[in-house]
Amino acid sequence: NNYCVIMAGGVGSRFWPLSKNLRPKQFLDILGTGKTLIRHTFERFASVCPVENFFVVTNAIYKDLVLEQIPELKADQVLLEPLRRNTAPCIAYANYKILKRNPNASVVVTPADHLILNEVKFLEVLKEGIDFVKEEDKLMTLGMQPTRPETGYGYIQVGKKSVDQSSDIYPVKTFTEKPHLDLAKIFYESGEFFWNSGIFLWSLQAIQNSFNKFLPDVNALFESIFEDIDTEKEQAAIDKIYPECQNISIDYGILEKSDNVYVYCTEFGWSDLGTWGSMYEHSSKDDNQNAVQGENVMLYESKDCLVNAPNEKLVVVQGLKDFIVVDTDKTLLICRKRDEQEIRKFVNDVKITK
Ligand code: GDD
Ligand code: MG
Repeated sequence: NNYCVIMAGGVGSRFWPLSKNLRPKQFLDILGTGKTLIRHTFERFASVCPVENFFVVTNAIYKDLVLEQIPELKADQVLLEPLRRNTAPCIAYANYKILKRNPNASVVVTPADHLILNEVKFLEVLKEGIDFVKEEDKLMTLGMQPTRPETGYGYIQVGKKSVDQSSDIYPVKTFTEKPHLDLAKIFYESGEFFWNSGIFLWSLQAIQNSFNKFLPDVNALFESIFEDIDTEKEQAAIDKIYPECQNISIDYGILEKSDNVYVYCTEFGWSDLGTWGSMYEHSSKDDNQNAVQGENVMLYESKDCLVNAPNEKLVVVQGLKDFIVVDTDKTLLICRKRDEQEIRKFVNDVKITK
């Protein structure tokens, strides 16, 4: 009954210049483990979900990358978007594929690019969470203890009481996606808030109800082509409706608005790995708190820097504090660590296509 939807269509723009349009970070071995992030994601969920119940939703240009990195999947388990419409349409597409197979499914939705250190604990949480939402009209997200006033995440305020005394599952009081720094600081300092991990659990019925309530136009588009799904007409039908789908994330589109959201507040060594800063936090560091990636890097009188330069070229850095330095074949990025959210803007300005 369990289905797993891996969202893998983002371009990871804040990880630029390493992450690029042609190969975003989910398809890279960012951590140097020998496996790409999407491969780790697939393996992590494979014990709660049979292989044939996986769907990866991604841009059409990444089809071969997905099948290469997860050869266990059949081609029709890779759902191809003609263009990016953010995570709400991506989830809606998967919902209708699952609807064809099993209207009573329990569904786990996950980003393709997260790090989870304690996989044993993670699986326990997942199983308990699935039990809680199955056959119910409830949406669940896994909530993480915040460690800084990060502005790139969703913030969840928990209701007073857990659903039963021994449980870490709480009704969600408020959900605020990507607050400004001032607000993020207030949330962080209050101690009442958790980060949204972006890993969601729900019954197919519950998420369908939420779309019908908050994003009915998106569902209407998929309804209109439902009979084409799983036929040879599917791709053409998808390509036709996708541009008409609202461009909105599931967080803004549904989680901020719905009043039947629950959060499982837990801890399993989670990181979004969404930015250079999060990668810095998870890297080993030298005595001056520099994280250096690459054999050919020389650092002098520098502190708290992340230098990623895994190429032949010798990179010498002197006198920098709190900087990100990333050197790739085509691009050199030097950016203050605390301004890393700006990287998105640089990418837009560059309109990078390679
Ligand atoms: N198929 C598809 N299509 N996937 C997409 C698209 C799309 O248009 N856009 C993003 N994704 C994928 C990304 O590849 C990633 O795996 C996942 O969906 C989440 O998208 P992000 O763009 O990384 O979202 P975010 O990190 O800004 O915010 C989300 O995650 C945070 C935690 O990591 C939100 O859920 C936040 O509330 C949350 O705190
Ligand atoms: Mg992310």
